[in-house]
Amino acid sequence: MKRRTVIMGLAAGSAATLAGTGAALAAPRGLVFDKTAYTTLTTTIDGKAVTYRFWKNIVYVANPVDAAYQSLNVSVPVTIDGKAVDATDAPILFSNSVGGYMPSSVATATGVGGAAMTGATGAGGVASGGNAMLGAGGEMVSNAKLALAAGYVVVEPGARGRTLVTSGGVYYGTAPAAIVDLKAAVRYVRANRGRIPGDVDRIVSSGTSAGGALSALLGASGDSPLYDKYLRTLGAADASDAVFAVAAYCPIADLEHADMAYEWVWGKNKLSTGALVDQTVSRKVAAGFPAYQKSWGITDTESHLLKTYLQPAATRYLASLSASARGAYLAKNTFITWKNGQATFTWANWLTHVGARKKTLPAFDAFDLSTGENNLFGTGTTKARHFTTYGGRTIAADIPAKLDLMNPMHFLREGTTSRARHWWIRVGTNDSDTSPTIVANLAAGLRRLGDDVSALMYWDAGHGANEDAADLMTWIARRK
Ligand code: DHB
Repeated sequence: MKRRTVIMGLAAGSAATLAGTGAALAAPRGLVFDKTAYTTLTTTIDGKAVTYRFWKNIVYVANPVDAAYQSLNVSVPVTIDGKAVDATDAPILFSNSVGGYMPSSVATATGVGGAAMTGATGAGGVASGGNAMLGAGGEMVSNAKLALAAGYVVVEPGARGRTLVTSGGVYYGTAPAAIVDLKAAVRYVRANRGRIPGDVDRIVSSGTSAGGALSALLGASGDSPLYDKYLRTLGAADASDAVFAVAAYCPIADLEHADMAYEWVWGKNKLSTGALVDQTVSRKVAAGFPAYQKSWGITDTESHLLKTYLQPAATRYLASLSASARGAYLAKNTFITWKNGQATFTWANWLTHVGARKKTLPAFDAFDLSTGENNLFGTGTTKARHFTTYGGRTIAADIPAKLDLMNPMHFLREGTTSRARHWWIRVGTNDSDTSPTIVANLAAGLRRLGDDVSALMYWDAGHGANEDAADLMTWIARRK
């Protein structure tokens, strides 16, 4: 009962033909990148004049369920500030615009970084979907645009999301649709090695929030056979879906452990209404968390977060200020001790400093099935389902496997060999869309496997922060 939309364009003709023949096995003929089908655009990015070739709305699977989402755009720089650029072997920034696990489409974008912002509204009323994030000065930042201006190829995939529903009431974008789509898009790029500009062995997946979690998942689960049947059904290209590197911002990941992590960290912080959540329930939800942390080799989570992330974040921030601005900040925030160029403070004082928790209890698997994540695990005509067994709840038989398909941590436990080996992981210290341990555990799991990890937090920053995008571009250039 899947909806099919009419597919437009050249490649689509053969895709539609193949769609009738059932699952495509090898690289389907319709999935050939047409080098000539671009328009040339000019734009100004970060003060640089950029001329680029723009390929638009390329359906990346032979049997799309909904081509409006299962299509991608490609942007390739030609000149930057009047200087010719050869992007033939440039890294490829694979920039998704997923927010809130909602559908994301690039079909109507008129240029790079123009994905529809269909995401959930994050802290400060800023939509975290689309390609825009928040810089240190509150300005919008787009990794897709900055990558283009750095001379990289930019691929922007759309993907199905949880709210998509047929006229017959069937949900067709719930888990694992989005990750399957992103994998199919990577396969499309790989299958077009030599046709699509850029180095298909240096794909860097970037995303924020739900899109950050999906980026991490894409990186952790490269070439996992667990997705094969879904990819086959879509007629995905027969190529590797492994990516080289990941840039994950405030990933809303590890969903089945996110409630316990959330209560363990934010349990005693009041809601913005001033109310405390039920402390007995909060403590019960959090009960299994220390044992869970141990399974990742973290025995003292408070100290790990303080020493590895929170105090260094405050230190970096304070060091970046002028002496007078630093003095003013410290006078307002007396919980911070500033000594020998280092910031220190206690866990309890930091929690007070952050203030209101964003989410109610439980944060992800709500009792009344009201969260986006409940919808993410919906199926068929059932919009929302439980995915944790808290309080003796039973979960549907298909849920455990779906949780694995959606969780990068599942793959890090297994240490799959085709995972990305280079990781850029960022979150704001004021971001209570999830627990800061989600980022810390992701980084710890990767380091345990010996991967190259740049993980840090942005001091006092909220959901969707991206305060060192220029550094990411340099970091990418240095990874070979
Ligand atoms: C996003 C934010 C959330 O709080 C959440 O639970 C899932 C996704 C987001 O901004 O993408």
